[in-house]
Amino acid sequence: METIKSVERLRYNLTLGPGYGGYSELLKAVDLDKEALQPFLHFDPHSYQRVRLYDTNVVEAVLTCWEPGQIGQIHDFHNSLGWFKVLQGAIEIEHFNLEKGEPKLRFSYDYPGGSQGFLNDDLGFHRFKNTSQGRTVILHFYADKIRHWEVYNEASHKIEDRQASVHFNYDQPA
Ligand SMILES: [Fe+2]
Repeated sequence: METIKSVERLRYNLTLGPGYGGYSELLKAVDLDKEALQPFLHFDPHSYQRVRLYDTNVVEAVLTCWEPGQIGQIHDFHNSLGWFKVLQGAIEIEHFNLEKGEPKLRFSYDYPGGSQGFLNDDLGFHRFKNTSQGRTVILHFYADKIRHWEVYNEASHKIEDRQASVHFNYDQPA
């Protein structure tokens, strides 16, 4: 597949559907450099940022932007599938079991810059962590589009149903 060097091209390719190789092949072809990403990057010292690039009923493309040391909340998917690629920096994903309301770490994986991963509902509760010294940027595809997820509230020790939301939306027709 031809290398995808711009967000415009990525949107166009997504309108064509996953193709024979599926979304992993599409992600493999993505090579967005700093300049191509720059207009879409948003970082915040209080929380990692979710930035929507593309959105339909069947697939959504979102960038997540992480300051050094930032950790996401423990959550799971509502029957969605997620593909991702680490565009800058590096992450760790921790997978948990919830036992009597307490998260117990089952295992974790490191994803260095350039690596790709795939998450489905069977993997259950998990969270992302920026493990690099600098900022981390990840590109995610979700199919079906995630509308809610279950988030573990560390203060109340309860699982809460939340609407999935983004901090910035750049979705526009390809
Ligand atoms: Fe996730």
